[in-house]
Amino acid sequence: MELTEFVEKYAVERRQSASVKWDGMKDKFGSNDLLPLWVADTEFKVPDAVTTALQERIAHGAYGYSLTPDSYYEAYFKWQKSRYGTELERDWMRFGTGVVQSLSVLVSCLSEPGDAVMLLQPVYGPFMNVIVSNERQPVVSNLKRNGTHYEMDLADIQAKMKEKNVKLLLLCSPHNPVGRVWGSSELEDLLEICRQEKVLLISDEIHHDLIVGQRPFVSALSIKNGYYRDNVIMLDSASKTFNLAALQNSHVIIPNPQLRERYDHCIERLHDPAGSLLGKVASEAAYRHGAKWLAGMFSVIKHNYEYLKKRLTTAFPQITVYDLEGTYLAWIDLSQVIPPEKLEWVIKHRARLAVDFGEEFGPVGKGFIRVNLATTPANIEKAADALCAAIQN
Ligand SMILES: Cc1ncc(COP(=O)(O)O)c(C=O)c1O
Repeated sequence: MELTEFVEKYAVERRQSASVKWDGMKDKFGSNDLLPLWVADTEFKVPDAVTTALQERIAHGAYGYSLTPDSYYEAYFKWQKSRYGTELERDWMRFGTGVVQSLSVLVSCLSEPGDAVMLLQPVYGPFMNVIVSNERQPVVSNLKRNGTHYEMDLADIQAKMKEKNVKLLLLCSPHNPVGRVWGSSELEDLLEICRQEKVLLISDEIHHDLIVGQRPFVSALSIKNGYYRDNVIMLDSASKTFNLAALQNSHVIIPNPQLRERYDHCIERLHDPAGSLLGKVASEAAYRHGAKWLAGMFSVIKHNYEYLKKRLTTAFPQITVYDLEGTYLAWIDLSQVIPPEKLEWVIKHRARLAVDFGEEFGPVGKGFIRVNLATTPANIEKAADALCAAIQN
């Protein structure tokens, strides 16, 4: 679907709809009238088939305890296999109400208080939160900057795993906020290190459908034809891709039977919920019928990224806008044009934007902002104008 057609058909006003991004802005930014480009959800309605499936299910009128139908597995497995070559089995699959909730459950169930858990910063803030709130010891390996993209520092990762006796590694793949889609050889090197150091890899693949660059996505489960998969737990959801976050349905994929047994035992103790009926109805419809809509979404993300990058770097060549291989989040280094200690003030009070500030992703993010591109081109034009004017002044 063409960019203009997609935007005209699906863009929706979200103010006054109990949206965290719009209606929750005041709590975080002190004002309700900034242009919000934070929270990673989108300004677009879901595919028509998702709305229809939800309406049909709502019309039924009874919402008692429910199962996951066979048709759900079929739709999800077909999506994974046909788009990414990822082969999944039904036995491996568990459900959660969100990927962060599952990350926290996994950290709690598969490690002990005080254990070392590794993360690669800058990274989505809740990774650090789930480690600290579960009273585990965070071990940070910083990604390395190389021109306009980031790489893993494999030597540092291995050295720290050994030194700190790391038990788990939380990987973001594709990586929020730096926009990397990890290649198969990088993932293979990482998985080999995890195998040697006996570190379980938890791979958060929630952004895996949002591939807008040239590098194809490959799941950690598929590396070397699944050679490492007994040492991987994969998490994903249709929520980021199709704007379904509040419907609370996500997947926990555990190929290793012993780990599955530990997880099930722990979940029994926590009386953890097993996903949401409407979340499953919506996700199944999205997997079955959402591909065309998603292609339209890609045209919006690519357009907005290219536009913003060109405007900012033409006006201020000292700004670095990192390559966007995956996600709809632009990672922008403004440290050469705005002193990092003034960044928040300038963005909020001069540019009047609500964005995520880099330090939310770790100290190495100081001086950066993360901009959510999953909005209308008109909003991105407004944001670019406002940023350029604020920097100019
Ligand atoms: C890497 C990553 N994981 C998880 C989430 C949140 O997922 P959920 O709403 O399913 O907890 C996000 C949201 O931005 C994310 O970027």
